[in-house]
Amino acid sequence: MHITHLSLTNFRNYGRLELTLPQGPVLLYGNNAQGKTNLLEAVYYLATTRSPHADNDAQLLNWTAAQAEEPVIVGRLNATVVTARQTQTLEMRLIQEQKANYNRTRNFSFRREALLDRRKVRLMDLLGAMRVVLFLPEDVQLLTGSPANRRRYMDITLCQIDPVYCRTLSNYNKVLEQRNATLRQLAEGQPVRDVLPIYTDKLVELGSAIFLRRAAFVADISRETQRIHYESLTNGQESIKLVYLPRLSGKKSKIAPREKQSPAVLADWLETHQGQSELVSERFARLLQESLAIDIARGATTVGPHRDDWSFQLNGRSLGSFGSRGQQRTAILALKMGEINWMEAVTGERPILLLDEVVAELDENRRAALLNSVTETTQAILTATDPGMFTEPFLQQATRMKVENGRIIVM
Ligand SMILES: Nc1ncnc2c1ncn2[C@@H]1O[C@H](COP(=O)(O)OP(=O)(O)OP(=O)(O)O)[C@@H](O)[C@H]1O
Ligand SMILES: [Mg+2]
Repeated sequence: MHITHLSLTNFRNYGRLELTLPQGPVLLYGNNAQGKTNLLEAVYYLATTRSPHADNDAQLLNWTAAQAEEPVIVGRLNATVVTARQTQTLEMRLIQEQKANYNRTRNFSFRREALLDRRKVRLMDLLGAMRVVLFLPEDVQLLTGSPANRRRYMDITLCQIDPVYCRTLSNYNKVLEQRNATLRQLAEGQPVRDVLPIYTDKLVELGSAIFLRRAAFVADISRETQRIHYESLTNGQESIKLVYLPRLSGKKSKIAPREKQSPAVLADWLETHQGQSELVSERFARLLQESLAIDIARGATTVGPHRDDWSFQLNGRSLGSFGSRGQQRTAILALKMGEINWMEAVTGERPILLLDEVVAELDENRRAALLNSVTETTQAILTATDPGMFTEPFLQQATRMKVENGRIIVM
């Protein structure tokens, strides 16, 4: 799939942009702070409804526009996306409204709207219409950072290809909040014991589906990542594995013998029990039952997919804790290339690649492997401060665009 046209209004440092995009590699180059990363962010945001950078969506609105004394300020992102089956337009609106109070202080509210083919849809319905794989230099933090980052990675990647998963996840999070609120009320002595099983049953049903889907996902992407890492990136020297670590066991759980309860063993168990959700539900339900006293004391559900994790392992050791910086980078590169192939295998189409300054960090062999994958893709948008780091044959294939202070000049 590929984008044929991208239009931005009041998004970051783009006041107004109308950009026609060709197929093949597109190289965005320019000095620092001109808008290269912002453009990739815009594409990623349309595809996933999330920003990889901003902690708050209102930050995406152009500063100058957002400061204007107008009652409504709208940021707009719009892309025309062509797939093998159809052409669609995706649009996202960032709407900031302000009201002046009687004491002249201003009151802001912010909301988002999504449109698919000009019809308003839920944000979630935008997912899957355009699929992207984003690769940033800071992605190494996936290995060294918090489990929340790693769960977010799984969720965003899976949501792009599996709307059912995405809905299940969103419902799970709602039920989890309700259950946690009930746990806290119980701790305070309120008479809510009758409501708890309603939330628990729902949590079990939704949570089991999430455990199963994630186990299958990690197993699939691990196979592809391992193959690329071994064959193309380390010349058969090293073999890594992606291991799903489901929170489907408690510290003192008696559900099964100790050795059968390590997260990695449970991940294998989940993978071999695809389609047998009753068994998984049963296990999750028993675990929640066992954890009830702790959960009430903490006012939070301590087991379940919201506490999942995954790790990269090399010879049984976690790369996040023991790998060298170079090994970690290579693993992430393999993961991203694995993600591309996995998405293509699942959907029949290669996703759009977004690569922010990553080429500069790779050695010659790894750079060649990545650029090879880029040229096999329908569309890839790459950024660099200096096009000189690319090989001549690559530059000949790529469309070059210069980014200058929120404007794009096609060379
Ligand atoms: N909401 C916003 N409104 C206006 N400008 C913004 C907004 N958010 C960020 N910017 C500015 O946009 C400019 C371009 O940022 P961007 O990260 O895209 O640069 P870049 O071209 O990728 O640079 P580098 O080579 O340093 O990575 C920065 O100066 C940044 O401060
Ligand atoms: Mg940048």
